[in-house]
Amino acid sequence: MTTVNGYEQSDREQKLDILNLPALEADAKKIIPVGGFGYIAGGSEDNWTLAENTKAFEHAQIVPKALSNIENPDLSTSIFGIDLKTPVMMAPTAAQGLAHAKGEVDTAKGVAAAGALMAQSTYSSTSIADTAAAAPGAPQFFQLYMSKDWDFNYSLLDEAKKAGVKAILLTVDATVDGYRESDIINNFSFPIPMANLTKFSEGDGKGKGIGEIYASAAQKISEDDVRRIAEYTDLPVIVKGIESPEDALRAIGAGAAGIYVSNHGGRQLNGGPASFDVLPAIAKAVNKQVPIIFDSGVRRGSHVFKALASGADLVAFGRPAIYGLALGGAAGVQSVFEHIGHELAITMQLAGTKTIEDVKNAPLTHFHY
Ligand code: FNR
Ligand code: LAC
Repeated sequence: MTTVNGYEQSDREQKLDILNLPALEADAKKIIPVGGFGYIAGGSEDNWTLAENTKAFEHAQIVPKALSNIENPDLSTSIFGIDLKTPVMMAPTAAQGLAHAKGEVDTAKGVAAAGALMAQSTYSSTSIADTAAAAPGAPQFFQLYMSKDWDFNYSLLDEAKKAGVKAILLTVDATVDGYRESDIINNFSFPIPMANLTKFSEGDGKGKGIGEIYASAAQKISEDDVRRIAEYTDLPVIVKGIESPEDALRAIGAGAAGIYVSNHGGRQLNGGPASFDVLPAIAKAVNKQVPIIFDSGVRRGSHVFKALASGADLVAFGRPAIYGLALGGAAGVQSVFEHIGHELAITMQLAGTKTIEDVKNAPLTHFHY
């Protein structure tokens, strides 16, 4: 362990022997300090939406298929011309220094080693350049929290472009922080700075809670901002935090090159629907105009399968990878992606689906709420 500003950080670097992803949370809780763990694991209010996110995968069942004459399912896929070994990607999550001394640098290494797509947050513990340089040539997206200060927005976007990111994720479901009771109970404030904010007039985030940091972000985000970022960067802009068909179509109308269906892992609007429950209607409305990324509550290979079969092109998770980071650094993150890929391969074989395209066309039954 290493200590920074009195905060103990894991420095483990080891592959993990994983039974399942849900079990990682209890193991990570033993090594991540209570305030940091509460921030990572917590949702908002009574965590109802957080819990519903994973339960919702019970609302649809996978149809087994015999006599399918397949073996060795192929998990490879592509999005925006990027070839990937797995349809599972790293969701952008802030302040990974809370889980490990190397933070997003180790996450990027582990994600790249698994042949997956990395997304780095505006509020990362390591800089855009350092996180990109950790995995040279590996594909990464940059997630933007828009600031009220457009000069700051442009400086972040310039850095992201220079670092070679392939797309911008514009997060639109966190204009204020959800009511994070874990952080209130723990009186949590970030013990380590957010590397991308060190040049920001409002300070680098150290000693602040997420609410204070969000206060300096933009509360008013409009369709014009989607267009402005796309024109400025000439990169695909994927709008993250979409939970209704109407919002998806408005984002596409504003120039979004992709839709990211997510409820922020139940950390924002508590009482909103499980992310998986709204995916089919959104996918129907989008009707393949643009790719769809999905997250919130994904813990099993069968969850990835169900999301792909319900209209997602790529499936992301956050917490399981953060726990893998704490427990094993880059090798731990790689172990997490490899484990869910192992579960997905079993599910694909038993469902008679050889490729990810087959999964996207696979039937689901009993979609009930
Ligand atoms: C997040 N999430 C998030 N999203 C985003 O757009 N920018 C961010 O900086 C963060 N930060 C963040 C920190 C932590 C600790 C968590 C757990 C989540 C949301 C994230 O991208 C994703 O939507 C959820 O993590 C998905 O839910 P699961 O897989 O964590 O349950
Ligand atoms: C969170 C922000 C940083 O969920 O996205 O904590």
